[in-house]
Amino acid sequence: MPLADAESLSRAEAFVRARCAHDSGGHDFHHLRRVCALALRLAKPLGADPFVTAMAAWLHDVADPKLNADPQAGRRALEGFLDGCGLSAERRARIEEVVERVSFGKELDGDARPKSPELMAVQDADRLDAIGALGIARAFAYGGSKGQSMHDPDLPPRRDLDHGSYRTGKSTSVNHFHEKLLTLKGRLNSEAARAVAEERHRFMEAFLERFLTEWEGNG
Ligand code: ADP
Ligand code: NI
Repeated sequence: MPLADAESLSRAEAFVRARCAHDSGGHDFHHLRRVCALALRLAKPLGADPFVTAMAAWLHDVADPKLNADPQAGRRALEGFLDGCGLSAERRARIEEVVERVSFGKELDGDARPKSPELMAVQDADRLDAIGALGIARAFAYGGSKGQSMHDPDLPPRRDLDHGSYRTGKSTSVNHFHEKLLTLKGRLNSEAARAVAEERHRFMEAFLERFLTEWEGNG
């Protein structure tokens, strides 16, 4: 028996709230709540379906390999959840496609397939939550949770990263700004997201300048 859309959405919210209750690395429930709200804001001008957008936003991190000690288990949990919603094959496939392709790391491999409006909305929302004041907080929270240094002047940012080298290899949270976060403004799908990114981007640049000033004991 298929569930009503509102019921599927409230189950998705409860499902992810329980799954990430113990996250201290910036991928907590509130990240999902913000991505969902932002994605719905961006969905309108893109003509994206609000149900597919919101479901994919809630579920986008469930099977993320960096958040699952066993990536197969993450994938099975996602599939089990979707089985319980009784969605049509077509809607389910649209949600799964967004979840599958939303990641920044995967796009580094040069995936040039066209994107659905729902993928554009969720991807932009996820990227906007990685920049600005919240993006700064999340980068240091994530770095700390992985035992990574905040900053190391002897370790320069890496260039020309692909998916493999982006995830592996030693870096720092300050380097993550140069390796990823400062590039996100130029990688957004929609005009509305680019408008939101402007101030968030400037805030990160000002933060980094100030960080390096204080790092030297100045300021
Ligand atoms: P995606 O899932 O799109 O590939 P990431 O895996 O980069 O995105 O994870 C999203 C967020 O996790 C980043 O925006 C950042 O806040 C944090 N993050 C990921 N890798 C790092 C890192 N090496 N240092 C600091 N923060 C990181
Ligand atoms: Ni995310």
